[in-house]
Amino acid sequence: MELNKKYNMFAMNKVRIVFRNYVRVRKIHTSFIFAKENLSDQHVDEILASDREYNSLLTHYFHLGEAHNCLVIQPYVKWGPRKLSISPEEQLEEAVALIKTLPLWKVNDTVSVPLDSLEKKSLFKSGSMEKLRKLIHNNRDITAIFINTSNLRKVTTTLLQESFGLPVLDRYRIVMQILKTHAISKHAKLQVALAELYYVQRKAQKDTLFSTSDPDSLKLVFQEREKKLKNAIKEVRNQRTLLRSKRKKEEYPIVAVVGYTNAGKTALIKALTGESSLQPKNQLFATLDVTLHSGLLPSGLQVLYVDTVGFLSDIPTNLIECFVATLEDVTFADVVLLVEDLSSSCFEYKRNHVVTTLKELGVQTGNENLLDKVISVGNKCDLVSKDSSEHGLDILVSAKTGLGLDSLRRYLEECILKATSRQVITIKVLSGGDEFRWLRKNATVTAEEPDEGNTQFIKLKVIITKSSFEKFKHYFIYQK
Ligand code: GTP
Repeated sequence: MELNKKYNMFAMNKVRIVFRNYVRVRKIHTSFIFAKENLSDQHVDEILASDREYNSLLTHYFHLGEAHNCLVIQPYVKWGPRKLSISPEEQLEEAVALIKTLPLWKVNDTVSVPLDSLEKKSLFKSGSMEKLRKLIHNNRDITAIFINTSNLRKVTTTLLQESFGLPVLDRYRIVMQILKTHAISKHAKLQVALAELYYVQRKAQKDTLFSTSDPDSLKLVFQEREKKLKNAIKEVRNQRTLLRSKRKKEEYPIVAVVGYTNAGKTALIKALTGESSLQPKNQLFATLDVTLHSGLLPSGLQVLYVDTVGFLSDIPTNLIECFVATLEDVTFADVVLLVEDLSSSCFEYKRNHVVTTLKELGVQTGNENLLDKVISVGNKCDLVSKDSSEHGLDILVSAKTGLGLDSLRRYLEECILKATSRQVITIKVLSGGDEFRWLRKNATVTAEEPDEGNTQFIKLKVIITKSSFEKFKHYFIYQK
């Protein structure tokens, strides 16, 4: 079994007995952790299946086609406050990765275009427009144009589509499409449908095409859909809160793993837990849903790792809501592992983005001290030669080669013991007696050793929570 395999790797210096033979790995009751949310799939499908009127709007505003061969354009402002600390090349790299995340979509060509500002109606200067038109005209394979900016105005999109004779897509639509493709849980599907509704609503309200239809009936369609989606999301959230509180009752320490998309979160969890079913992918948002994975720390302490959706900069506000909802679990964690990709050329930019988002998440959810729980881990150290002090990182690892993982586990354990007020104690109890059985059930026994003075007794080394230790004292010490 997987747990035993991992367990065999542990080593504890001062304990003489090979505790593999003695320590019982606490059975994990994961059934409730992965329990299905109450809302039935059929009910969610019914909610998601929109009515005819909404469906036609959705097709009109959102249908992007099954497959596209894209020209990716990276506009960038050369000077002034809109100039970003991430270079156009790095932004372009991310834009290409976004397209590659969509099955059947391809990048045909890429180009960066300088702008004076992002406010111009046609976005590009006339010289650039001409060059782009020529490029598109000479390449008949291109079927769509992705302009990597968060949200193009309708007037700009129309102008550019007319000028290029091809569909023009912005970051919002591409990200939305990715979210739709990758949403698996009911919660994610419902959140994506809500973000989509807001988008369609905004577009429809501004569009003359629909001024002919009855605006009141349209408003009603939107309102009803919004209400249905919000109610369903509330139901799923309540269910998740219940699952969380059950988890808390069992007192498994929780480690939330966060980071910019593609930093290697899933790969790191896989390396830490040995869970073979996890599939790290070289794709953005490969993980859209929060998932839980159990693992053991060096002393045998069991923890739950929470894999979260990757962060991405420059996301329109109502899409962020989609992410925040899936990130709620982070705020309940005892420790937050912030995974950073050391090999990324825009390391600092991504870090700033993740830290700012975490800060906001903390504020929004009343967890202002969220950043205090962060351990920063520089991943992919096999690809670069850096030392941890270079970026103020706590630890360097390679999820791929396993480098640094043992140090990370040890450090993680130290932080968890502190964060959860767990203590390591050695206690002498009658072998096989009530205390012995109670401790095995309610604490993590990390080592057992016969008492040299009296072989009927045994010395147990245990990791125990404050509340369990109080209970132990109550049952077995004060009662005597
Ligand atoms: P999202 O789901 O998009 O948030 O991504 P993620 O952060 O979970 O990244 P994931 O674990 O899917 O890994 C992304 C890519 O980086 C995959 O191709 C991994 O194989 C690769 N990768 C992860 N860790 C390492 C590492 O330590 N070294 C190297 N060379 N590659 C790594």
